[in-house]
Amino acid sequence: MTNSLTHFIEERMMIDFTTLRFALLADTFHCPVKGDFEFNVDFLILVNHQGDIADTVKADDTHHADMVVALREAGKLEVLPKGQYLMPGLVDLHCHAPQWPQAGKGLDLPLFDWLQNYTFPLENRYADNAFAANIYQDVSRTLLANGTTSAVYFASIHRESTEVLAQSCLELGQRAFVGKVNMDNQEQCPDFYRENSVEQALYETELFVNNVRGLAGNEGGLVKPVITPRFVPSCTDPMLKGLGELVQKYDLHMQTHCSESDWARDYSIERYGMSDIAIYAEAGLLNNKSVLAHSIFIDEKDIAMLNQLGAGIGHCPLSNMYFANAAMQTRELLDANVRVGLGSDIAGAPSPSIFRACFDAVTHSRVREDGVDCHLPADQRGVSGSRISYLESFWMATNGGGQVLNEKIGVFASDYHFDAIVVSPDSERGNLRVWPEMDSPRDILEKIISLSQTDNISKVWVQGKQVR
Ligand code: GUN
Ligand code: FE
Repeated sequence: MTNSLTHFIEERMMIDFTTLRFALLADTFHCPVKGDFEFNVDFLILVNHQGDIADTVKADDTHHADMVVALREAGKLEVLPKGQYLMPGLVDLHCHAPQWPQAGKGLDLPLFDWLQNYTFPLENRYADNAFAANIYQDVSRTLLANGTTSAVYFASIHRESTEVLAQSCLELGQRAFVGKVNMDNQEQCPDFYRENSVEQALYETELFVNNVRGLAGNEGGLVKPVITPRFVPSCTDPMLKGLGELVQKYDLHMQTHCSESDWARDYSIERYGMSDIAIYAEAGLLNNKSVLAHSIFIDEKDIAMLNQLGAGIGHCPLSNMYFANAAMQTRELLDANVRVGLGSDIAGAPSPSIFRACFDAVTHSRVREDGVDCHLPADQRGVSGSRISYLESFWMATNGGGQVLNEKIGVFASDYHFDAIVVSPDSERGNLRVWPEMDSPRDILEKIISLSQTDNISKVWVQGKQVR
């Protein structure tokens, strides 16, 4: 009976059950379309042995009921209890892993002082691999506990301990994009924390790329190397050019800071007479999987260049409120179809939660829309029509982040990697409450974004493997 039913379903669905690792039946949120969401009750997700989604079946599909029975009888079905919600894992496009011990310190300083007094002395301690190992494991574990299944990490200038970070992510099962930081400009980098020479830095960076790709257990590419010039002021021309050549040679991801503040923008104009995006493009650093953190002061020419090259932005809304000197034009970027995702910018903002970044992105846009100076008339105070919605912020945190990285993550669809979290509202722990008779699916999603804490994130899968 079991075998014949399974066989019958397999034939009708053209799916061989032996290729499946498991199937999940769950009430599911995701955002296939920017600005919109889907809530699918009893959504069936089939995950193959590689950890990718083999198929999805909605409850109103004619095969759904038979599939559920056959999968259960085949011992492959996991059912999520009602009142718990499955969602795509969150994507953090910008996190400084070595700055984790600094989270919450000195955020009332200007960027330059904060970097010189707090960040560079701390990052320099990662010359010590043992010091690094402890902290790097904690960062990756903490981000996973917050539902971040994919993280894009700046490390420090040290190749060896950056490899420790890559190894740690691999062992904990986090999808990670890890970069050895490059900074060699004597005029901007302290003597105690900069590259010895461009040649040495490029040699170490290329070695890092090959070592990460060759890590045992990384054959599927769960952890990827990222070319990481810190930002324009910290790099000489030969450094930017050399890193651009590596991006091209190996078709690599690239991450950097872009037009983050008045100071950073003015520095580039003074040194090159060009915007950061033009500088990075000319150095060959930009491609369809580049992550430009912040990108506050960018104009229409920059936006056209981003779209032409397929490069994306990591929006870090809380960090911007401390360091950017202006609000992010998120509304315009979304409308111009620029690829945009969200970043924590640890420790330029203290929270490791991308739900928090979603919430902050909405808040940021609301303050921008209304403006800040109470002495101005209302119609001159802000930028009218510039708010973004919670749905758009959640799209950025999942689907948008996946698009920036050019990875099949962020939605539940065939061929995408199964990276997912379960959110459990719970009156015993945390602040998230759902009252089913009062809360629509959209209300529930907005509450999850606004109120979820680590206690509410009860399961995490990356590449089909449960990692928490
Ligand atoms: N610009 C250059 N380095 C940094 C950094 O570590 N954090 C932030 N927020 N901005 C930077
Ligand atoms: Fe940053």
